[in-house]
Amino acid sequence: MHMSETADPKAAVMSTPVAGDWNPDVIRQEVAALQHKPGALLPILHAIQDRVGYVPEGAVPIIAEMLQQTRADIHGVITFYHHFRTHPSGSNLLEVCRAEACQARGGRALERHVQECLSVGYHDTTADNEFTLVPVYCLGNCACGPSIRVNNDIIGRVTPQKFDQLVDALTTSVLQLK
Ligand code: FES
Repeated sequence: MHMSETADPKAAVMSTPVAGDWNPDVIRQEVAALQHKPGALLPILHAIQDRVGYVPEGAVPIIAEMLQQTRADIHGVITFYHHFRTHPSGSNLLEVCRAEACQARGGRALERHVQECLSVGYHDTTADNEFTLVPVYCLGNCACGPSIRVNNDIIGRVTPQKFDQLVDALTTSVLQLK
């Protein structure tokens, strides 16, 4: 993970997009690696999301069977924690910090700008499938807020202008590759 005080939009362009595919064997591997640990469900869900990019609906019955829990139990945990996604994200996963320190440094205004700029709310993906927007509650970059994470890069002191530059850099890069 990369952290920075000053936004360098082009640095984020180099990040690996969050994306992935899955099959039942992938899910079984992740469950088998962790299922014997106490409180295994949360680490398993994290592992699946890290590997696949989200927790597929089809993973639920596999996890339930291997952990000998009900599907409702698994669903309940997935929906309780906003961190878990049940659909593939866009090409870029954009997390905006909503915690106190960032809010004290202009985070609320930045949130409004981000949502207006992308025309999406939290947990939504832009129509062009470029960005999925999710809230996060502290990125460990509090002194340099407001902070966001784009894929694997944490960027601090984000102003609306810096955010626009970042979006331009990411979308321009995609266009050049097409
Ligand atoms: S409060 Fe935003 S990074 Fe900690």
